[in-house]
Amino acid sequence: MLAVHVLNGPNLNLLGAREPEIYGEATLDDIRASLAERCAARGVELAFKQSNFEGDLVTWIQQAAAAGAPVILNAGALTHTSIALHDAIKGAKADVIEVHLSNVHARESFRHHSYIAPAARGVIAGFGPLSYLLALEALFATATRKT
Ligand code: DQA
Repeated sequence: MLAVHVLNGPNLNLLGAREPEIYGEATLDDIRASLAERCAARGVELAFKQSNFEGDLVTWIQQAAAAGAPVILNAGALTHTSIALHDAIKGAKADVIEVHLSNVHARESFRHHSYIAPAARGVIAGFGPLSYLLALEALFATATRKT
């Protein structure tokens, strides 16, 4: 594994200030920094992005797949609504781990369904920023280096 793409959807730019009782106090940049540290230690390149627009995420999933890079995806609320993201993962044959900060299954029922999960390799939810690091560890543990 030469690179990993970490893609974040709507409202995750607000982390730190947004409902801290649910999402905690770490900012998205804090999460980026902890992932960057682990990736640097492994010699893996990190592409870390956030957008409030569904189409950006579609394009980034396609690009990651074209580059042969696995994706850690927190699609935010688009998890529960986006057939376009489901289709992007399937269509581009992207290797995706779905992550959430909160335990979506212990929250409102509209968060219990994911359009990402059936197209993803696995799902990690409920561990705050650690969800991202656990996903990264899963990628490291299962990677077969191509070059
Ligand atoms: C989230 C959970 C989603 O239900 C919510 O819409 C988010 C954040 C999480 O990381 O816990 O924006 O993906």
